[in-house]
Amino acid sequence: MMKKKPEDQVLVIFGASGDLTYRKLIPAIFDLYIQKSLPDRFAILGVARSPFSDDSFREKMADGIRQFASKRDVDEENISDFLNLLFYLSINTDEASDYSKLKERLLKMDSDYDTKGNYLFYLSTPPNLYPLIPKFLAEQGLNSEDGKIRRIIIEKPFGTDLQSAKELNASLLTDYDEGQLYRMDHYLGKETVQNMLVTRFANGFFEPLWNRNYIDHIEITASESLGVENRGGYYDHSGALRDMVQNHLMQLVALVAMEPPSVIESDAIRNEKLKVYQAIRPFTEADIESNVIRGQYLAAKVKGQPMQGYREEKGVDANSRTETYVAMKLFVDNWRWSGVPFYIRTGKRMPTRVSEVVVHFRPTPLKLFPENEGYVSEGNVLVLRIHPDEGILLKTGMKIPGAGYKVKEVNIDFHYSQLQDTYVPGAYERLLLDAMLGDSTLYSRGDAIEETWEIVQPILDYWNSNPDAPLYGYPCGSWGPECADSLIEGENKTWRYPCKNLSDDGIYCEL
Ligand code: BG6
Repeated sequence: MMKKKPEDQVLVIFGASGDLTYRKLIPAIFDLYIQKSLPDRFAILGVARSPFSDDSFREKMADGIRQFASKRDVDEENISDFLNLLFYLSINTDEASDYSKLKERLLKMDSDYDTKGNYLFYLSTPPNLYPLIPKFLAEQGLNSEDGKIRRIIIEKPFGTDLQSAKELNASLLTDYDEGQLYRMDHYLGKETVQNMLVTRFANGFFEPLWNRNYIDHIEITASESLGVENRGGYYDHSGALRDMVQNHLMQLVALVAMEPPSVIESDAIRNEKLKVYQAIRPFTEADIESNVIRGQYLAAKVKGQPMQGYREEKGVDANSRTETYVAMKLFVDNWRWSGVPFYIRTGKRMPTRVSEVVVHFRPTPLKLFPENEGYVSEGNVLVLRIHPDEGILLKTGMKIPGAGYKVKEVNIDFHYSQLQDTYVPGAYERLLLDAMLGDSTLYSRGDAIEETWEIVQPILDYWNSNPDAPLYGYPCGSWGPECADSLIEGENKTWRYPCKNLSDDGIYCEL
């Protein structure tokens, strides 16, 4: 089958001197170049305040490609051919009058490279510029489509709370149509996240079971072993709820809970996801007190190595009460999910980096076989592993050969790595190509973003007005506050722990 190619265009990256451009965007576009997926006539214009020339920008980007592009085709000849597509313009991005220079440069590129006035703008800048850049572009007429491509990709964070997200949407929609706006959530670019739709809707045997009658509860985990690294300044004003839950985890909740769309098409899918958000039971103060747990990592030794606590990190307030971990129980109050708890958690400095959705089915109505070591008939478990070791795992009971009916839990296990010849594109690679093609399925729609802020806003408000609400310390290398186990309903039920605590120091305390 012929690959669909995007129309000829210029990709303009604002914030081109930043880390995201260097580590993710340019390496991903290079991967697209190697896959021959870029438009026939294509150029990239990096825009930022820093004074690079085309050459020095190319040199820096070459270095990013060598480190971060998918390894198999990084050879110097390919890199040097690709670099011919890269250009740079230094302007004051917060200065409206500088945008005439940008327009001039784009017109010149159109005439040099025949890119036909088609522009895709990528905002990889500090969020305070998100309302300004689109407005300044519009002042130069660079928003008006008139048969041309005029699209904007906006990185997260999309707002810092419900109010600011609404304001940002409103300001963008004064000069652009919803169809021109591509709100990035890189989780949606992950192949395994998209596979959740296929697992559910291409397999006849899951769908009849995918509801309150057969599913006991659902767990979603996104843990990281890294701390805040060099992002302390940003993170201390954000915290795990804004950084991970409002966006990435909510995407996973929607994909696991949504109804089948009538077609695989952007708005059909996004409508169904929106309905999930609308059905999530609003958090009352009592719910927050009993169903939301926040934590912050403490200094500890992990495999013998000392690790500093969150409050010692660069850019973080020494008395910070920002959460680096959050776990919660929520309900999707609709026909399919009524009464089924969804447990979600995310945290930094945990024992390992893992993202997974775990579907716990109800046990059989009668326990016919005796439980024995290694087998407790708690029901089948389906693990949709997003990373690492992407794949699907189904835990089932099997008879141990020999006399009697001894049962053992075994895994039916698929790993993406088994598809040896299939190239799995990275998240940014996939999402950038989709935006070039004009496919917004894997981007967030404005109404859904507002709805997800609506869900987390009561928690932000509660923490804000009750600064002494519990914040639990957990040692680096542990699975977060121990009390998070108590969220899970049912005797002896806990979170699934993909690996053991790695912390040598078992200090859990209330901060
Ligand atoms: C980002 C968050 O959106 O997602 C980071 O800002 C987090 O704090 C990252 O580390 C996690 O993404 P991934 O793809 O590594 O799971």
